[in-house]
Amino acid sequence: MAPEPPLLSMSGITKSFPGVRALDGVDLEVQAGEVHCLLGQNGAGKSTLIKVLAGAHQPDTGRLRWRGEEVTLRSPIAAMRLGIATIYQELDLVEHLSVAENVHLGHEPTAAGFVVRGKAARRSTAALLRRLGHPEIDPARLVGELSAAQQQIVSMARALSHDVRLIVMDEPSAALDPDEVDNLFRIVGDLIAEGVAVVYISHRLEEIRRIGDRVTVLKDGRAVAVGLPAKSTPTREVVALMTGRNVEYVFPDRPTAPAKGERPLLEVQGLSRQGEFDPLDLVVHPGEIVGLAGLVGSGRSEILETVYGARKPTTGQVVVDGKALKPGNVRAAVRAGIGLAPEERKAQALLMLESVTRNVSVSSMSRFSRAGWIDRGAELGAARAATRELSLRPDNPSVPIRTLSGGNQQKAVLARWLLRGCRVLLLDEPTRGVDVGARAELYAVVRRLADEGLAVLLVSSEVPEVLGLADRVLVLREGRVVHTAPARELDEHRVLDLVMEGSPAS
Ligand SMILES: Nc1ncnc2c1ncn2[C@@H]1O[C@H](COP(=O)(O)OP(=O)(O)OP(=O)(O)O)[C@@H](O)[C@H]1O
Ligand SMILES: [Mg+2]
Repeated sequence: MAPEPPLLSMSGITKSFPGVRALDGVDLEVQAGEVHCLLGQNGAGKSTLIKVLAGAHQPDTGRLRWRGEEVTLRSPIAAMRLGIATIYQELDLVEHLSVAENVHLGHEPTAAGFVVRGKAARRSTAALLRRLGHPEIDPARLVGELSAAQQQIVSMARALSHDVRLIVMDEPSAALDPDEVDNLFRIVGDLIAEGVAVVYISHRLEEIRRIGDRVTVLKDGRAVAVGLPAKSTPTREVVALMTGRNVEYVFPDRPTAPAKGERPLLEVQGLSRQGEFDPLDLVVHPGEIVGLAGLVGSGRSEILETVYGARKPTTGQVVVDGKALKPGNVRAAVRAGIGLAPEERKAQALLMLESVTRNVSVSSMSRFSRAGWIDRGAELGAARAATRELSLRPDNPSVPIRTLSGGNQQKAVLARWLLRGCRVLLLDEPTRGVDVGARAELYAVVRRLADEGLAVLLVSSEVPEVLGLADRVLVLREGRVVHTAPARELDEHRVLDLVMEGSPAS
């Protein structure tokens, strides 16, 4: 008996953009019922490959077979018809439509010839959300009002509202907490048990071990390894394939003498926001990195935004270098030297139509303008230096930022804050979507800035990152600090216990 053909086989796929060959003869083979992981550094071509698979990009050359038969995917609808659903890295939901409308957007009429509408749409959406373990999301809510994690779930619901055979997830865990990742993996487990195939992209190698069956590694648009066993291939080998060198997941050394005695640079005194977080006190000395650990919804990002003045506090104040700031006033915060690298980069931070240079320099324009003229040479030079420090690719800051890969866009926003020279740096999920190689570089830069006398307040859902990078850690649960300790006295299990304790899910 002839063996079953693979569910999907892509061969010799190439795709070029002006000046970049994003894919250079890539092969990918996926079997029904497997989790096939796609790994590679920022800009390696992962998202481009899955956009070809989703019918969103047309390849320049190459062939695609679906269950043994050659197919051409001229549009996303064509891919959808075959049963290929994609959850993109940059979620493509419509913010001003409801959850149910988003889930049913672009659907073909039902068998009876009617598009699912109104009540029926809400009912079927509610059923999907229950299946995904999120019955609390109201199908009638506007998507724009949901958290990033909830939007992710809506995107999943939309994928599952079709009859899927292959579901592609481009960094789905980047916006999720550990317990939400567990929930995601449960869903993936259910899907593969039903014979659905999953293509899974993530920069977190431990996830690949947990749920992956096989791994394909991309480097500079080429597949450098195809279908390696996910569980038994040593991490060292995978990282070496991705980066072409041996990178350790290392954190920079902490200073031997912790900043003490000196006046704190940042003081948060009794700061609270009703319904978001309880009165909070914390101090950060120059040279110190303080980490906030907690689940999504524990108030982490809200705290940073309130310190930054983007939200008005109910009580309390922020003091920088001994001077109290006008509450709820971003301009006062910026003038005092506070910088915030926000969590939702696309919406809050990036100028999508502008070059990388302008995105990096936009907060420091006064440095580059003289008598109303912008010194473009100086602007470009400074942007180039800041982006090199984070090994941003491509190494040409004149290109439009929208053409950068997700992780590289992230680095551009961070470069902006490095260039601006703030004294107090608030970092919200700084490594979301950043590859293992670049992470180590980013950590080194943050530590160096602290060594130069900055005060850094760091929020991350990756507990090892908070523990590895911060000097001191505040653990938050439901808007309240439940524990404070030097990072070296904590470990991951202890922190997870602290953030979950008493939460209904545990
Ligand atoms: N629309 C576009 N126009 C020009 N260049 C593009 C476009 N889309 C992607 N590229 C380039 O193609 C290359 C591959 O990008 P891609 O988004 O596939 O990377 P990735 O592996 O998904 O990276 P990440 O981990 O950062 O998400 C990059 O050099 C990127 O700058
Ligand atoms: Mg990508």
